[in-house]
Amino acid sequence: MSVHKSDVKKVTTHQLQNMKERGEKISMLTAYDYSMATILDAAGVDVLLVGDSASNVMAGHETTLPITLDQMIYHASSVIRGVNRAFVVVDLPFGSYQGNSSEALRSTIRIMKESGAHGIKLEGGAEIKESIVRILSAGVPVMGHLGLTPQSIYKFGTYTVRAKEEAEAQKLIEDALLLQELGCFSIVLEKIPSELAKRVAEKLEIPIIGIGAGPHVDGQVLVVHDMLGINKEFKPRFLRRYADLHTIMTDAVQNYVKDVKSKDFPNEKEAY
Ligand code: KIV
Repeated sequence: MSVHKSDVKKVTTHQLQNMKERGEKISMLTAYDYSMATILDAAGVDVLLVGDSASNVMAGHETTLPITLDQMIYHASSVIRGVNRAFVVVDLPFGSYQGNSSEALRSTIRIMKESGAHGIKLEGGAEIKESIVRILSAGVPVMGHLGLTPQSIYKFGTYTVRAKEEAEAQKLIEDALLLQELGCFSIVLEKIPSELAKRVAEKLEIPIIGIGAGPHVDGQVLVVHDMLGINKEFKPRFLRRYADLHTIMTDAVQNYVKDVKSKDFPNEKEAY
């Protein structure tokens, strides 16, 4: 029997909450284009994040700061066309929400209307409280992001582990509690000590998704290019590589070049 789009049980924020409650871990990966999204969705990933890491892995920028709202909408609408089941969250890019809550709402509405996404993610705690309230009041699911927040890289100067000191850890816990109280459906914790992530995941009722935050959280997220081994250079301790696509793709392309040069490709069967 063929499976129609409508037969597939879609992941919702309600289901993600149930997953936390019954102890089922949530799987999340980034996606930026249609073809990758179809593979990840069919493979059973629960949440696809159209991350502003597209600025790094798709556009080759050093930081996430340059990517624009229009570019995020382009990536998000491509991903949405490839998805049947996963819940799709889109990052609000740097500069599209920090100004004030009206700007944050306007950016969110553009993403939701123009891409068909299911929710948004934004970086920060108490300092962006008003924006979160405003976005939630429009009925849009919001995912928070605390710990290492790449949009603030020039404030911190490095990508090292965050919240190792008690004062920063305490602020992170307070921010996490605030995000939950405001109504966020989930929070990403990036690159913080495992014990701190565990404390947050145990204290909060909403699902906590970690990246470099250890095993005691409710789910994990990785950048898809990193876990598939497309990027060779990026090797943080938290990254597990599930494939070496860099080598596989390089071999394939070298073989293609060789076959073209040697006139082996195309052969008679590959021609009309
Ligand atoms: O943009 C991104 O890929 C992210 C993940 C690292 C969580 O925010």
